Amino acid sequence: MKYSASNWSPASWRKKKAVQQVTYTDEAQLIRVLNQLRKQPALVTSWEIEALRKHLAEAAAGRKFLLQGGDCAERFEDCTVELIKNRLKILLQMSVILIYGLKMPVIRVGRFAGQYAKPRSDPNETRNGISLPSYRGDNINAPEFTAEARIPDPRRLMQAYYCSAAQLNLVRALADAGFADLHNADNWNLSFAQEAPYIQSYQTIISKIHQALDFAKTVSDHPIEGLGRVTFYTSHEALHLPYEEAFTREVVHANAVYNLSTHLPWIGKRTLFEDSAHVEYMRGIRNPIGIKVGHDIPPGDLISLIQFLNPLNDPGRLVIITRMGVAKVEDSLPRLIEAVQRTGMNVLWCCDPMHGNTEKASSGIKTRKFVNILAELEAVIDMHARMGTVLGGVHFELTGEDVTECVGGASGVEEEHLNQRYFSTVDPRLNVSQSLEMALQIAEKYQNMEAV
Ligand code: PEP
Ligand code: CO
Repeated sequence: MKYSASNWSPASWRKKKAVQQVTYTDEAQLIRVLNQLRKQPALVTSWEIEALRKHLAEAAAGRKFLLQGGDCAERFEDCTVELIKNRLKILLQMSVILIYGLKMPVIRVGRFAGQYAKPRSDPNETRNGISLPSYRGDNINAPEFTAEARIPDPRRLMQAYYCSAAQLNLVRALADAGFADLHNADNWNLSFAQEAPYIQSYQTIISKIHQALDFAKTVSDHPIEGLGRVTFYTSHEALHLPYEEAFTREVVHANAVYNLSTHLPWIGKRTLFEDSAHVEYMRGIRNPIGIKVGHDIPPGDLISLIQFLNPLNDPGRLVIITRMGVAKVEDSLPRLIEAVQRTGMNVLWCCDPMHGNTEKASSGIKTRKFVNILAELEAVIDMHARMGTVLGGVHFELTGEDVTECVGGASGVEEEHLNQRYFSTVDPRLNVSQSLEMALQIAEKYQNMEAV
């Protein structure tokens, strides 16, 4: 892969090859919406982005751990207090378990407040002999299987912005208001899991945290400040480039250009190639960026890409999110790790055990098996340990609801249950119980590794 580092601007991606983009019937309306978006207040600040870069650099060095999770595709109709709260709650619970199990601070990054645009392998969807354009995410068209719903509508970009802003407003308020207070951790409703075999381990962890807090309070003689506040960062796939461009702003005091629609934008697997407009766009922004890599990326291509996107080898800049599938890790991951090691590149390795393990159930519905997700994660943890590198984070598609989209785990979702509460419009997510169990499994894995 060759990249040419010619002059960058927020619009220089327009000269490159942009795939997975939308053709609107009313181009003038798109331009009107984009001009409006350009004037809207940004969703995040450059200070927050800089803070995240520092945290990620720490994670790359093995001193912090990244937990990234949320929906595959956010829906406008899901912008409700209940759903947002439940998602934060599960991310908090998972983070507490990871802090305890890995003995290090956890950086919480949601796939939310902007995860609206989806790349699709097939531009069309066929049902009963009828073919329509695929659903591409709520900021582009609607999932209903009618010709009208599938027409891209530029006004959806504005709605995506408003939903992101409303969601972020609640997230910031809750994160600041004691919702996240560790002292309240046993109130984080676990009614869904009373029967689950792992509930005991969770309660043990929470009571040990309480003991530690009580001890610290006793010896310091003061209330411990700051425990009620946590930070959630946001992330989404920066797929819809005209939207991303509208939030790409110069920040004078920082003397840099940022994407202020999210903290951590990422490049999806389908838009990662030589001369890609998405790669060009990411090159010039100061945000940390994620890169989704599959088992088939040649190590030389990964190296060129890393050098192109991070020429100064800054440790907080790149998150390499591997998503290979459980069967491919053993063969493909060492080659990538070796190439990065050989060239002395600073990256944060993160594992997405979801996207390489998608399969079709016998009914034709997309699903993933809990055992495969966990097995990929364990294989990746072992591989990094064997090669002397650091796995600095994990990336999940999950929800705080009791859905039936992925199979397995202690909650006992079987293939025949998939149509009971399957709400995802794109990829299947871990439900609340499967997510909690996954975090406990990771914590246990690290504790066992420490013990040997
Ligand atoms: C996703 O994260 O939803 C996605 C489409 O991932 P990938 O680009 O890794 O396939
Ligand atoms: Co997905």
